[in-house]
Amino acid sequence: MNYKGEKLSITIVGTGYVGLTTGVALAYLGHHIFCVDSKAEVVESLKKGVPTIYEHGIESLLHEASPNLSFYNHLDESLPEADIVIIAVGTPSKSNGDTDLSYVEDVARAIGRKMNPEKPIVVVNKSTVPIGTASRVKTVIKEELKKRGTEGNYYVASNPEFLREGAALYDTFYPDRIVVGAEELHAVNMLRQMYAPILEQTFIPPKDISRPEGFGLPAFVTTSPTSAELIKYASNAFLAMKISFINEISIIADKVGADIREVSKGIGLDRRIGSGFLKAGVGWGGSCFPKDTRSLLFTGKQYGVDMPMVSASIEVNRRQRMAVIEKLQATLKIIRGSVIGILGLAFKPNTDDIRESPAIDIIKELLDMGASVKVYDPVAMENYRAQFPEQDLIYTDSVEETARESDALVLLTEWESFLHVAWDKLVYEMRNSIFIDGRNFLDGEDMRIWGYNYVGIGC
Ligand code: UDX
Repeated sequence: MNYKGEKLSITIVGTGYVGLTTGVALAYLGHHIFCVDSKAEVVESLKKGVPTIYEHGIESLLHEASPNLSFYNHLDESLPEADIVIIAVGTPSKSNGDTDLSYVEDVARAIGRKMNPEKPIVVVNKSTVPIGTASRVKTVIKEELKKRGTEGNYYVASNPEFLREGAALYDTFYPDRIVVGAEELHAVNMLRQMYAPILEQTFIPPKDISRPEGFGLPAFVTTSPTSAELIKYASNAFLAMKISFINEISIIADKVGADIREVSKGIGLDRRIGSGFLKAGVGWGGSCFPKDTRSLLFTGKQYGVDMPMVSASIEVNRRQRMAVIEKLQATLKIIRGSVIGILGLAFKPNTDDIRESPAIDIIKELLDMGASVKVYDPVAMENYRAQFPEQDLIYTDSVEETARESDALVLLTEWESFLHVAWDKLVYEMRNSIFIDGRNFLDGEDMRIWGYNYVGIGC
């Protein structure tokens, strides 16, 4: 395999997007990986080589890395051997914006109860956790060890994850930076060793995930656990703010007749601004931006700090979703009784994840307004149906079926396959040819030539 140095035994708790991606990548790089998940059906599926998340390249890598990978239901089985334990369990939002840390604490407690007190281990927080969690994890482990009459030999580090769903393996192999927050040099060195093949880019790229041309070496940022925790929140809040900023500008662009795509390009070329995350549209969703911005606000509140920029980003994002409804209303006039086709339910393409997807709010609003709603998504329909079984929607098998006899189509996720639809023919199958492109994804000029009443976001 790829790794030339000393192989580490690494236990990863939680096999969601972060845990499974990390586990599979580190196993591919040559470490011994033990993945733990409390859900028996998840473990069974992974043992058979069937991924439980939808992620580009995961299935073949799971297969390729299988000699270094094993899956368990309980932490106990792998813990005595582990050099490093990575916590990658869920940290859901509570209704007040606080973060539910019970899963993280459960893992910390189990580590304290079951670890071999003689063998040094590094406990790594990879879940997105509020500031102060590294220290909380340390305390929980200490309490459990104390009950056993020992102090143990353990270190706690914070190692936030920056991977994007849909590009999770790519981001793991080719990150811009790896951030490690730790108080002790031993923890930093162990993580440097764990990441050595990535930091030095010495591995042979997996077949589906080639190294980008001209890729330099990732930076290794070492800092305190608290700064590492804040880096994660600040990164996500900044990216969310960047999108909300361009979305706010898109409203002005609509009013004055500017084209937001050209405005984005024009400002993004300034290296101080950068061109990423300046695509205007229906706004951000997913498992990170909404949760992390809320959590940052909550932390601010706890420390008596107002965070108007973060608040405004959330508010602009909420308003942006409703902009689609306003655009529909402006073209269709009356929504009650009309048939609206939704193209895309996932919060972004190449994932089946619908968490905090713009589609959720938009569909709910349309149903409340009395529209009939048809939906199509290449992979996320099952997830949507499972989460909203009570909604009276018409699930279709294709874009064509969604368009047939509809008054309007609303594109909410920029799936590649939507580019290959025979839009020029489909227009004749619609009752009214309104097309709201919530991602500025299709060519508006062509769509208008083909007879659509095409409306973009800021263009
Ligand atoms: C994000 C961060 O990118 C990642 O570093 C972090 O670890 C987790 O959160 P993810 O949520 O997977 O990753 O998706 P991302 O590609 O960042 O997109 C987030 C949302 O922003 C999506 O809803 C996407 O449609 C939207 N977006 C993104 C825009 O509306 N415009 C853009 O220019 C970019």
